[in-house]
Amino acid sequence: MAQFELKCIECGKPHDMARPAYSCTKCGNLLEVKLDIRASKERLAKANHLSRPLSVWRYRELIPLGEKSKAYSLDEGGTQLIKCDRLAAEIGAKNLWIKFDGTNPTGSFKDRGMTVGISKAKELQMKTVTCASTGNTSASLAAYAGLAALRCVVLIPEGKVALGKLAQAMMHGATVVSVKGNFDEALEIVMKSSEKLGMYVLNSVNPFRIEGQKTAAYEICDQLGGESPEYLYIPVGNGGNSAAYWKGFAEYEALGMVASHPAIRGIQAEGAAPVAHLFERNSKVLEPVKKPETVATAIRIGNPANWKKTVRAIKESGGNASTVSDEEILWAQKAMARYEGIFPEPAGAAAFAGLKKDLEGGAVDKSANIVCVSTGHGLKDPDVAISQCVKPKVIEASIEALEKLLEVG
Ligand code: F0G
Repeated sequence: MAQFELKCIECGKPHDMARPAYSCTKCGNLLEVKLDIRASKERLAKANHLSRPLSVWRYRELIPLGEKSKAYSLDEGGTQLIKCDRLAAEIGAKNLWIKFDGTNPTGSFKDRGMTVGISKAKELQMKTVTCASTGNTSASLAAYAGLAALRCVVLIPEGKVALGKLAQAMMHGATVVSVKGNFDEALEIVMKSSEKLGMYVLNSVNPFRIEGQKTAAYEICDQLGGESPEYLYIPVGNGGNSAAYWKGFAEYEALGMVASHPAIRGIQAEGAAPVAHLFERNSKVLEPVKKPETVATAIRIGNPANWKKTVRAIKESGGNASTVSDEEILWAQKAMARYEGIFPEPAGAAAFAGLKKDLEGGAVDKSANIVCVSTGHGLKDPDVAISQCVKPKVIEASIEALEKLLEVG
């Protein structure tokens, strides 16, 4: 068997990796890259990958890009795994780390996927790339498309994208199209028009993006000295990243790099929680949320395109999915910023909010090794941050005025 094969997640039908493909030509389900473990082990052993700097491309041998193809990189990945003792004490945990993927080049985990996705687009000789986005995907795609001299067209839900993300997409030179509808509707347009318009889709339905994002799981294991955490808390929007993490953990275990894997706890915002509801109902079928709503606009998604992948990932890992309220998300955002110096956007605080709730409800062991993924930087969404904080105090330009203010408190 070749080291990599592109297969349908349901019927297993193989697909040609040398052509753009997002869904099975036989049954319409999503596609995924399957890794041959023996071949991968051999390549990895020769590479001595642990001697390389921590980054997405440390794991070059586990990424399905042609050996001669160029990797378009902004030096993504290699993000901090921060031991959070103050936050842990606050919520009654013992061993808590936050994987802060908000410190990637464009401020979110999407860069891990885009470096691989854009490199693949070039390999396929595509000229235009596209996505629908709640903001971060468009910011990241625009940056990497610029780097690779590709035309970039992004569709965003009108009025529902945080300001920083919009600024990024525009600044990096994308054609930004504002759709009078939500993310789910924008993604439908992208999927139905891309072939006709000759555009390569880089939403997380693109299996090569997932191959970049899975490296975050490898990194966590390497950062923990060759061990897997017991729980991984992660926000779920379109369901790509949680599926990617699980793929990474499962592969690293199969490759013998770690002896175990974490239970994946998928966290959704209450107003946009079709995956969590599926678990609550113990159902096999997703019921989309027609009008998703949450302060965490990044995960304001009612009909996740990757729902089957994320449900399978969560189940296989022995995990679960649950919800947090907007209030809980905003509390978590502030706590992360004030106790640990980590400034996440609201979606990037959802996982920690979910952990706090689980600890209160006794759903997780207090002494377990727990990693929460923080997916995006707080500077992306200054409006939400500012609206939660006390306004700056205004004084005359004198020392006396400052003294007086500080005395008063
Ligand atoms: N956190 C942040 C900061 C995000 O931007 C997203 C998704 C998620 C979590 C959820 O990840 O979709 O893989 O389950 N943002 C996409 C976008 C939808 O368009 O930027 P997921």
